[in-house]
Amino acid sequence: MSESEIIEKTALFVQDQLKGAESGHDWWHIQRVWKNTKLILESETADILVCELTALLHDIADSKFHGGDETIGPRIAGDFLRTLPMEEARIQHVQDIILNMSYKASLGTVLFHSKELEIVQDADRLDAIGAIGIARAFTYGGFKNREIYNPNIPFQENQSKEEYKNTTAPTINHFYEKLLLLKDKMNTDTGKKIAAGRHQYMEAFLQQFYGEWNGEC
Ligand code: ADP
Ligand code: NI
Repeated sequence: MSESEIIEKTALFVQDQLKGAESGHDWWHIQRVWKNTKLILESETADILVCELTALLHDIADSKFHGGDETIGPRIAGDFLRTLPMEEARIQHVQDIILNMSYKASLGTVLFHSKELEIVQDADRLDAIGAIGIARAFTYGGFKNREIYNPNIPFQENQSKEEYKNTTAPTINHFYEKLLLLKDKMNTDTGKKIAAGRHQYMEAFLQQFYGEWNGEC
């Protein structure tokens, strides 16, 4: 089986697994992260198969829906990949990246590091910024019944992921608490370049938003 067949089979598996997933982490999120990964790989050197498979499998079992158990995703990914003709070391690598990639894990002790992790983590973070990032943030906020903006509620930087989930802060606050900070968390030079453009787009959006909010434009 060729590497591209392995990737194709994995894409079909993930698409099937994510039927009915919530919109923040549905198949389209995976497809965008996969495309971002391929874009980054045009100018970074790494194990392409490991990167693409990890992009496809990275949200296969979101720990939020499994009582916070972050080992389930890597386990499902590994069980699937072991049905395919692939070297064990590369399967293990995919599993290690998935376990260590989440924003929460990146705030804690770094347990594992590789170029491939850097690339897929960048690809995932790119999907939280720019036009898509804006759309995802307001979708999340609407789902949680948040206000879009409230000038009386100040934003708070450096909250933990758990704290985010429990606040009722307006969606605009999320830009200052997370989205605008992501460009400085990018790992690869290519990721940084792509993030810069998407970041600028969010800044322009916010400027326009406040202008309209205040009846100035
Ligand atoms: P991940 O761990 O995949 O980066 P999350 O589950 O934290 O993502 O969030 C999924 C999407 O929802 C992201 O685009 C993120 O920016 C958005 N989101 C998360 N928390 C908030 C929030 N408090 N307000 C608005 N959007 C949010
Ligand atoms: Ni993701």
